[in-house]
Amino acid sequence: MPTKHDGPTSATSSNQTPDSASLRDSAKSRLYVLRRAVAEDLEQLNDLEREVFPTLWPPTNFAREIKKTGQAVLVSSVQSAGAQSPPGGRSVSLVERVVGGIKTLATPGITDRQIGDGVAGWAIVWFVAGEAHIASIGVAESDRRRGVGELLVLGAIEAAAANDCDELTLEVRESNDAAQALYRKYGFEIVGERKGYYVDDNEDALIMTTPDIREPDYAAKLAELAADHSKRWVEAGIRFARD
Ligand SMILES: CC(C)(COP(=O)(O)OP(=O)(O)OC[C@H]1O[C@@H](n2cnc3c(N)ncnc32)[C@H](O)[C@@H]1OP(=O)(O)O)[C@@H](O)C(=O)NCCC(=O)NCCS
Repeated sequence: MPTKHDGPTSATSSNQTPDSASLRDSAKSRLYVLRRAVAEDLEQLNDLEREVFPTLWPPTNFAREIKKTGQAVLVSSVQSAGAQSPPGGRSVSLVERVVGGIKTLATPGITDRQIGDGVAGWAIVWFVAGEAHIASIGVAESDRRRGVGELLVLGAIEAAAANDCDELTLEVRESNDAAQALYRKYGFEIVGERKGYYVDDNEDALIMTTPDIREPDYAAKLAELAADHSKRWVEAGIRFARD
């Protein structure tokens, strides 16, 4: 990630993909809702970032980030057992958004119920001169390997397109296999490196970039990934929605 100080302890995840049965037992029915972050999320965002990047210094000023223009702070909040889709929300099917042009990320219409929900993950995306930069992304340990990272990346790509960006770029630790696998799945390729980028341990960063997200080939690939993502987790009792 471009945040230079995230710690090595968070660089990799040893989490295994849970099987459907264990997920059903442990997670019951989970509903992850992708939406813009709001002021009520700040405490949870600060806590979650400390959990995910324990050595990050200085911590992200989420309060400032959510107020800035030219960027998006996305969160995936989780509702458990028996959760209903939010009013106005719907199953995540980004396919309709990515095919034939990705449309504007829906204006948030956050309900009181959603504000109180647990934040499972976040992504900060900056939009600069036609390029989107994923500045930070993280998922709570307890919510990993359940498609939340993908949901956030899909949201970031969608937000990038809505802000007239042709490509997305990011930095990632050379040792962070989990994150690199996630980005590769979404078409990011290594285009360079930054030596000693992470100040806490001098680790190198890889620079990863998508192809032109408006190219028909990429849009088709994204549509397929988005469709697979929404179908895949149903068996495990996990649903995704957006607000
Ligand atoms: C990287 C991270 C965001 C992934 O979140 P996640 O919710 O677990 O990811 P998903 O369940 O959506 O997984 C999507 C894809 O990511 C890759 N992936 C995720 N975790 C992985 C792991 N532990 N090992 C290998 N690949 C992994 C896989 O390609 C996976 O697709 P698959 O399920 O078809 O194999 C999460 O591990 C995290 O927060 N890590 C710590 C913070 C961090 O490293 N942030 C990125 C800094 S650049």
